[in-house]
Amino acid sequence: MKENQTKSWVAVMDFGSQYAHLIVRRIRELGVYSEIVPYDADYDKLEGAKAIVLSGGPASVYLPSSPKPKINIANINIPVLGICYGHQLISFIFGAEVGKAKSAEFGKTVLINTNNGKLLKDLPNNFIVWMSHSDEVKTLPHGFKVVASTKNCKFAALEHEELPIFTVQFHPEVFHTQYGREIFSKFLFEVCKCEKSWSVKDYAKEMISSIKKEVKDSKAICAVSGGVDSTTAAFLVQEAIGDNLVVLFIDTGLLRENEVESTLLMLKKIFGSKVHFVNASRRFLEKLRTIKDPEQKRKIIGEEFIRVFEEEAKKLGDFEYLVQGTLYPDVIESAAVSGPASKIKSHHNVGGLPEKMKFKLIEPLKFLYKDEVRRLAESLGLPDELIKKHPFPGPGLAVRIIGEVTEEKLEICRKANKIVEEELVKAKLYDKVWQAFAIVGDDRATGIKGDERSYGYIVTVRIVDSIDAMTASWSRVPYELLDSISKRITNEIPNVTWVTYAIVDKPPSTIEPQ
Ligand code: XMP
Repeated sequence: MKENQTKSWVAVMDFGSQYAHLIVRRIRELGVYSEIVPYDADYDKLEGAKAIVLSGGPASVYLPSSPKPKINIANINIPVLGICYGHQLISFIFGAEVGKAKSAEFGKTVLINTNNGKLLKDLPNNFIVWMSHSDEVKTLPHGFKVVASTKNCKFAALEHEELPIFTVQFHPEVFHTQYGREIFSKFLFEVCKCEKSWSVKDYAKEMISSIKKEVKDSKAICAVSGGVDSTTAAFLVQEAIGDNLVVLFIDTGLLRENEVESTLLMLKKIFGSKVHFVNASRRFLEKLRTIKDPEQKRKIIGEEFIRVFEEEAKKLGDFEYLVQGTLYPDVIESAAVSGPASKIKSHHNVGGLPEKMKFKLIEPLKFLYKDEVRRLAESLGLPDELIKKHPFPGPGLAVRIIGEVTEEKLEICRKANKIVEEELVKAKLYDKVWQAFAIVGDDRATGIKGDERSYGYIVTVRIVDSIDAMTASWSRVPYELLDSISKRITNEIPNVTWVTYAIVDKPPSTIEPQ
């Protein structure tokens, strides 16, 4: 987006913090466009930036191996805000001693605001901030003054006496910090004089016009799943190039109950005759027969998807462009801007077709977070059922079936997933949780059905709360809801005898079981 837009933006330099994305989101929430840049970005990567925020990070600034910016922070002509590691780094650059803290601080801490600085001006004298550090600034950096402290941290917030450089040891981006929004707001609007110039509506307008310019009269193809990302991406391209778009919907045989019919209906309403449907379920299920290993299952599904896609695309015309619903966290994670990102699960996006394919890529959502995509879809007038839909993995129910994907387990998984979703809707909780589904494996447990003992399947129910799927916690839904889900599953699915609830967060687990 930035490359197309002339408006101001804020660069968040990533020093390896788990919170770098949160900083970007907080800034965008205030109507100012923001992006993550690597910690060693050159000046040209910062062109047009109204400010730089240095994120936190796990390193110690005094170690030679710690990440240091390439640009000269002390001599850059735009305002800088350093957070946590950023605070220590700036202090270090300005000659302060930084070392191990006598008492590390983790969690909520009371900040004592001396009210003599610009960023904390007019905020209460004491408020709660979120701390997470074991190093600390030990002496005052040259040219700075202290504007806040805590019981254990003398230099909790600093400001340069002349230059627009601000540093905080605490995390204003974290929800637990009181007045975090006000602190960003003062920085962006009072110090940096940023304009509130960013909204998903403007994003859509700019994206549509830049796609139009790029694609001209060429043709584009988009594989859609009926989820909010791929559908919104295709919709933006449809707005730009109209009938030169083809929307391909592939039934992998791994979709939920009635999902093929309902998705097709919705897609036809949005894209009309541009929709091309392929039932490839037999091919996928054949290929998955006897395969138990989760990574192998994902690989097979991914490869088969590409094969089907290529065959269909060849039949449908000569396409120069491929549209994908890639989101910002995927781009940032795969670019590994802040160091080698470890691979947790391969092949995170089945619709993710390899770059070696001859197409040029259009990724209209690659600067957006999921909640922004939902808002965008809403502003484009896309249907509610699409906007509110929970995310569903590309490899479909195959990742919710532990072990081999058999017809019997698919049937159980479909029925149980439907029950979980229906009961959540009934309890008015569907829109409140991030995802809710059922898992089935090969383990069996004894039950009594009628007068007979039976040895049936175990279904695990997983319901999680999350903001962006990067972390998640198991949802504390009411016992009554779990009870009705469990009763319906064991009553309505004959070969299920036990129901369990997954009480594990991400991390250490992932959201999907495979
Ligand atoms: P995990 O299981 O990694 O999932 O915690 C995080 C989010 O991503 C979804 N997910 C996938 N989405 N293709 C997708 O398009 C995949 O292979 C895939 N695996 C997981 C998952 O449902 C959750 O929302």
